[in-house]
Amino acid sequence: MDKLLIQGGRPLQGEVTISGAKNAALPILCAALLTADAVELDNVPALRDIGTTLSLLERMGVRTQRPGDEQVTLQADHIHSQEAPYELVKTMRASILVLGPLLARFGRARVSLPGGCAIGQRPVDQHIKGLAAMGASIHIEHGFVVAEAPRLRGANILTDMVTVTGTENLLMAATLAEGRTVLENAACEPEVVDLANMLIAMGARIEGHGTDRIVIDGVGQLHGARHHIVPDRIEAGTFLCAVAATGGDITLRRAAPDTLGAVLDKLRDTGLDITTGPDWIRARMHRRPQATGFRTSEYPGFPTDMQAQLMALNTLAEGTAVITENIFENRFMHVQELCRMGADIEIDGHTAVVKGGEQLLGATVMATDLRASASLVIAGLAAQGQTTVERIYHLDRGYERMERKLQALGADIQRIQ
Ligand code: UD1
Repeated sequence: MDKLLIQGGRPLQGEVTISGAKNAALPILCAALLTADAVELDNVPALRDIGTTLSLLERMGVRTQRPGDEQVTLQADHIHSQEAPYELVKTMRASILVLGPLLARFGRARVSLPGGCAIGQRPVDQHIKGLAAMGASIHIEHGFVVAEAPRLRGANILTDMVTVTGTENLLMAATLAEGRTVLENAACEPEVVDLANMLIAMGARIEGHGTDRIVIDGVGQLHGARHHIVPDRIEAGTFLCAVAATGGDITLRRAAPDTLGAVLDKLRDTGLDITTGPDWIRARMHRRPQATGFRTSEYPGFPTDMQAQLMALNTLAEGTAVITENIFENRFMHVQELCRMGADIEIDGHTAVVKGGEQLLGATVMATDLRASASLVIAGLAAQGQTTVERIYHLDRGYERMERKLQALGADIQRIQ
């Protein structure tokens, strides 16, 4: 299994290009199931989760091509299976995103239940409740969600909580339903907006995306489209936390600063000097960071996917930060590993109290989930001495060539097998 070896203590300098957003690309790939025409996507990141999704779609009969490094073409004109098997779903929970499109276009779907995952229970009851409200007969059978509906009907759906993939599944299903669907308490994340824009390019009638009330008027069929995936705000935020921890001066190219409001605000509070243009962000840090507490929440609040990285930065800050995780119940697994590097963190339920120290010391640490891995890399870059981050397959699920991008910024980081 691959590991990362990091010699800490070097400031980051230079430019890095941000990849397309994983969490936008995943639903958009699944949206190709909604039409028999070809769908052409650009700025698709080269990630393990993207490979898993393509394998899942190919298994159903979708023809896929990669005409360029960042391009994927999909055509779902000969679908022979409406099933998502356990062995693929268990490696990537987002596989549940095929449920809405399959049901809407083919009238049936059989998708393995994702089960628990490291960061919490993560049920899909809201996806099921919404599809049932649209007239699907839906039940759990041998660990699969089995759904049928000759044609979905528009409905008013109020989800019990804000759910990103839940909103995306129902949005995709509603595009081909009969009549009007109103999604209340919808997720406003930029990735949901990107999916809605792609669906509109395919002929869907959608209004209100980017707000908590999305209105969809179903159409008889969708057609092919071309789409450029939005930049990954979490990858961008991760590099910004890294430079804030190591010091230095970096510029992110092909980034989307307008999707990073809460993250940029918090990073400015730590002392990071940030300037932005339409598609770039420059960040300079020449001092010890200032402790900055935060609470995770739905967009436009501070994203849970940035919690671990900003916590790593706080371990080195002047002062004490109180961090509250409001989205997932078990998302502090990086804490123990950060403490092994000398961090002073206490957890009480959903809250972590981080007392900043002068330095971290390199150690062998183990990544337990995607963003936890990123926080350990940040800690390793800033720590004194050598850090080995084990089990980095989590990192490869969500970051494109992270060690190469960091090397280009002057970090001493190597992948070893
Ligand atoms: C998505 C993102 C993930 C991010 C998360 C929160 C993708 C592929 N993944 O995950 O990176 O961390 O949003 O921003 O886009 N819930 C239920 N029942 C449901 C659905 C959700 O109880 O049917 C709960 C979850 O357990 C969680 C909360 O709602 O506590 C939010 O989860 P949700 O927004 O659905 O996360 P994902 O869409 O899985």
